Amino acid sequence: MKQIAALVFAIALLISCAKNASVQKNDNQFAEARKTYGQYCATCHGEKVEAFVDRQWKHGKSKDEIITSITNGWLENGMPAWKGTVSDAGIEELAELIVSSLGTVNQYDFEEVEKTDTYSSQGMTLKMVPVLEDIDSPWGLTSLPDGSLLITDREGDLWKVGSDNSKIKISGVPAVLAEGQGGLFDIKLHPDYDENGWIYLTYAKFKEEGGETLSTTAMIRGKLSGNTLVQKEELFEAHPYLTTRHHYGARMAFDDENYLYLSVGDRGKRDENPQSLENGCGKIHRFNDDGSIPQDNPFVNTPNAVKSIWSYGHRNPQGLIYKPDVDQIWEHEHGPRGGDEVNIIEKGKNFGWPVISYGINYNGTTFTDISAKEGMVQPQIYYLPSIAPCGMTYVSSSKYPGWNGDILVGSLRFNYIDRLDISENKIANQEKELINIGRLRNVFEAPDGFIYVGIENPGTVYRLTPQ
Ligand code: HEC
Repeated sequence: MKQIAALVFAIALLISCAKNASVQKNDNQFAEARKTYGQYCATCHGEKVEAFVDRQWKHGKSKDEIITSITNGWLENGMPAWKGTVSDAGIEELAELIVSSLGTVNQYDFEEVEKTDTYSSQGMTLKMVPVLEDIDSPWGLTSLPDGSLLITDREGDLWKVGSDNSKIKISGVPAVLAEGQGGLFDIKLHPDYDENGWIYLTYAKFKEEGGETLSTTAMIRGKLSGNTLVQKEELFEAHPYLTTRHHYGARMAFDDENYLYLSVGDRGKRDENPQSLENGCGKIHRFNDDGSIPQDNPFVNTPNAVKSIWSYGHRNPQGLIYKPDVDQIWEHEHGPRGGDEVNIIEKGKNFGWPVISYGINYNGTTFTDISAKEGMVQPQIYYLPSIAPCGMTYVSSSKYPGWNGDILVGSLRFNYIDRLDISENKIANQEKELINIGRLRNVFEAPDGFIYVGIENPGTVYRLTPQ
């Protein structure tokens, strides 16, 4: 157990060193092998051997089997034979590097961990109490001053859950395109909700054109009158509308001056959208609370640029939070295989997708050779393998003293929460929490100070109740 803990810690450390990816113990140990890998293997398998090993293995992943693969190749399938080009000793070192890198994948092997509804962490005992069940996919959540919750279900429903456990469907919500990853997305209250009653929603908006259904990420605000959303105002829709059904982004965050940030994904148009300022996809946008454009946005004077753009070069940002202690916007985004990132968003900056990335295509092929470039921002951390980050929240509540000041990132793929332990505004450590919780879709700290987690299959929202 101690060994496992040490390994997990080493790997966490390794990942937390992502900013200086070359300072890894592994790297020193396998310096030669990494060089050979970079020279001969990276063009086909990607720069990071840790991304390569996260695959469906076809010819075996024991050291001997890997040596066989490298030595003889699989010529008919496009894998060259390396005998002669690389020495026998060099091939053995490559195999050892690959086997050792498999540890990054194996750290998520939670199969033995028993299912539970009570977790302990940092001296806290946390019980999962269901507050809403039998929905499709909990996407957004907030709480109202009267203690009730507003929860969006991706399929298109907005639920109000009373503190007496009553469940009411709110009417007047816009029609959404609930196909693929599309649907009803995020919900946020205006920071001065008590005075103005504004509620903000994002969703997949659609229209018919040329016999096809096109959609985009859109943002509205409205007010609750009883159980109906009224006084609706359209604030923004990202252009262009597209036929794809994925990478909508759609998270919102307010900062302490009431500027509103919105993430929009690249909509699967990697090579057209994120690097161009002339469309709204693959961007973080910034608005005034009424949807108008702040005059200090970075591209207001750039000809043809979308004026709401705050940063660009993003893939599918589905985590967006305001970190009040340092007045920063933090974001996470789904990468390709091995390129999930946590970023600190900065005005006018290019975050590099798809010119730079730590990942490779899901089919194992590569699309870029580089993970860094002048003028493009490096992530705070990246995940190898990809964890499929879902949901992100900053813990400010006094209800969770052990997690105060930390950031929680949900993992859809590995069913746990990655707690980013922040020290001096740097990710000092990563801890695995709520291991084996189920298909984790989202995690939120609501205005009521409680943390809620949304799980899929079946769709359930739990309050993480300190005991
Ligand atoms: C020209 C592209 C190319 C290069 C360069 C290349 N590979 Fe491969 N490699 C492939 C392909 C394609 C496959 C999948 C073969 C198959 O499906 O049978 C593969 C398969 C493998 C496998 C077996 C994976 C499995 O699923 O069992 C290993 C191990 C491997 N490569 C290691 C390496 C190493 C180490 C290098 C560098 C010395 C390297 N490869 C260089 C294309 C390449």
